[in-house]
Amino acid sequence: MSDSVGQVALPRHVAIIMDGNGRCARARGLPRTAGHRQGVEALRRTVRASSDMGIEYLTIFSFSAENWSRPKTEVSFLFDLMRRFVRRDVAELHSAGVRILIIGERQGLDPDIVSLIEHTEALTRGNEGLKLVVAFNYGGRQEIGHAVRDIGRAVASGSLDAEAITPELVESHLHTYGIPDPDLLIRTSGEQRLSNYLLWQCAYTEFVFVDEHWPDFTRETLERAISEYMTRERRFGGLVARSA
Ligand code: IPE
Ligand code: IPE
Ligand code: MG
Repeated sequence: MSDSVGQVALPRHVAIIMDGNGRCARARGLPRTAGHRQGVEALRRTVRASSDMGIEYLTIFSFSAENWSRPKTEVSFLFDLMRRFVRRDVAELHSAGVRILIIGERQGLDPDIVSLIEHTEALTRGNEGLKLVVAFNYGGRQEIGHAVRDIGRAVASGSLDAEAITPELVESHLHTYGIPDPDLLIRTSGEQRLSNYLLWQCAYTEFVFVDEHWPDFTRETLERAISEYMTRERRFGGLVARSA
């Protein structure tokens, strides 16, 4: 990062919607799958850059609950890419001290993917470097729905008083429990929507939309987004010191 932004606090948690793989490939006359493959390269670059910058949490959207509606061949390709990413990259990430956490619905996933996920989390559990949170088969509404169901069960069984349901209690039932809310959300490819990503967690997150497609995302793109974030004034519903 340049020194000019060195004075302002870095985002502790950056969340990214890695979008535009298909469009990037098509623009180059390639099949969509080529874009997904190149997207993995962009992910490797981004993890390294985030580690170097001292970002604590990086959460990436790799497969949404709604992505099942894509053609079967594309879904299989994305799942194979996830398998390959775990097999090829996890050892290296582990030796770099990266802790990997996977959020999203595990029910309905192929058992071998669930094993890879569990193995990855167990292997990297003790690491103290960057926390890489992978949202895989993740949907914010589904996550909140499950939390409500769990809480409802506890109330129905008499083990929880409905009056004790607070935002903090709801949070403790989300996949992201223990992870601070994202400070900065970056979405590539020019789309300006959340697409069911971290709905609860983004209540006060700063959004930065960049035009680059995800495969073209570089360390510089990340630095620019962070610089933009650092110019923002976060008020959380309150007043800034000088006007208070
Ligand atoms: C993001 O790129 C990757 C996933 C959603 C898995 P897309 O596949 O959404 O690419 P576009 O948005 O269609 O270009
Ligand atoms: C969001 O992108 C999901 C991921 C990046 C994994 P999509 O491409 O699926 O979102 P929409 O359909 O454009 O909203
Ligand atoms: Mg897309």
